[in-house]
Amino acid sequence: PRSIFFSRHGESLYNVMGKLGGDSELSARGKQYAKSLPLLIATHLGSKQLTVWTSTMKRTIATAEHLTYPKLAWKALDELDAGVCDGMTYEEIEEQYPEDFANRDEDKFNYRYRGGESYRDVVLRLEPVIMELERQRNILIIGHQAILRCIYAYFMNHSHEKLPYIKIPLHTVIQLTPRAYTCEEKRYKVDI
Ligand code: F6P
Repeated sequence: PRSIFFSRHGESLYNVMGKLGGDSELSARGKQYAKSLPLLIATHLGSKQLTVWTSTMKRTIATAEHLTYPKLAWKALDELDAGVCDGMTYEEIEEQYPEDFANRDEDKFNYRYRGGESYRDVVLRLEPVIMELERQRNILIIGHQAILRCIYAYFMNHSHEKLPYIKIPLHTVIQLTPRAYTCEEKRYKVDI
């Protein structure tokens, strides 16, 4: 059976500062994670073929840097666009846009950032990616938190209400193997 592996990018400089979005580089820990990936993937994939998909952002491309499989960068895999809140921390958003902050908490799936996207928008934009995923063999996606929540929810049949709260931690590879009715899931955490 084929597997879909996925991981968030390694810790970025914006992750360290608690800022949303942006296009920052990896932190030292993030670079360590990138270096650990080839062995981790080879251990669980064996000698099977793999294609690596990234977004077009620096942090996913840098995370895939040491992997020697064929790679493809998808614009559709770029992180949820936080619009005017891009580059801000949650505290700054709560202070500058208190109503938006409350609205997002109220209905996280449908809340659309000013000048940006909602989770619902992202689910739509991911349709071609999911269609291609269904046709492919083994794929590793190096992605972003909101994006991977949508892809995970698709394969694990999670509801729209639960989707924005799915835990997709940093420095963890998730392996989904489709079975008759659901997917078998394994998680591999790298301690750095
Ligand atoms: O903080 C990292 C990040 O990927 C942001 O770029 C993005 O806005 C956020 O996570 C998505 O998570 P949530 O929807 O829980 O804010």
